[in-house]
Amino acid sequence: MRYFLERAQKKKVPIWQFNFCDLWQFIGILEGAKKFKEPFILGTSEGEAKTLDPQLASAFHKFARAKLKVPVFLNLDHAKDLDLIEKAIKAHYQMIHFDGSSLPLKENIEITKRVVKMCHKKGILVEGEIGEIPQAKGFKKSKKCLTQPKEAMIFVKKTGVDLLAISIGNLHGILEKMPPLDLERLYMIKKEIERAGLKVFLVLHGGSGIKEEELKRAVRAGIVKININTELRIAWKKGLLVDLKSKEVAPYKIVKKTIQNVARVVEEKMKIFF
Ligand code: G3H
Repeated sequence: MRYFLERAQKKKVPIWQFNFCDLWQFIGILEGAKKFKEPFILGTSEGEAKTLDPQLASAFHKFARAKLKVPVFLNLDHAKDLDLIEKAIKAHYQMIHFDGSSLPLKENIEITKRVVKMCHKKGILVEGEIGEIPQAKGFKKSKKCLTQPKEAMIFVKKTGVDLLAISIGNLHGILEKMPPLDLERLYMIKKEIERAGLKVFLVLHGGSGIKEEELKRAVRAGIVKININTELRIAWKKGLLVDLKSKEVAPYKIVKKTIQNVARVVEEKMKIFF
């Protein structure tokens, strides 16, 4: 994973993370990604991992690697539950994102450090989070939740995380009018970390709804991984609603639109950089 993240950083071509929690979403992701022959990440949030079970998600992941014959990685996304993290480690996830962003800095550092220790022993990469990434629902613009460059540097130094999720105007979900990304802040975060002689891969969460040009600018400014979830969920639901109009009852006969819709989102995203 580290090799591909380094390659992505050097080439300024990000690695996409696509979240899933159901079979048709999973097949759609594979369909959309297959022609690019590029590495990508399958993500399961806490809810998604608990619904699927980490062991099953891991079996899906194993299948994806074998089927596409490209490096596909599995990440536990926004995990707060340490028991679930242990289950994901046992299930052979390659990455764990511990999200302590709502905790006071000291506590976030302490728990993230523990997660890093647990994961690094097994060769698993850890993503930490500093600054809070707001939800689109009830969104109010505020500078308070944004990542502070100095804090980001201290966090990386004290925890030893491999990847860092930052809050730079990105949000979870989609708004009719998406707020612009604060690329100046991204630049400052990167500089502050580099100036301290540290190394970390910066992650942009809330990739749904962000325009192509803005994603490109974010990658040029230092983003190495981009996470997408809401757009995949919307595509899945819209497709399923169409498919369910069929009088058929055999799932395999009616899920075409569901799979196609998810595949289209993945293809559109991957096309931006490949
Ligand atoms: O980790 C997951 C992503 O940050 C999801 O964000 O639902 O806005 O695409 P999104």
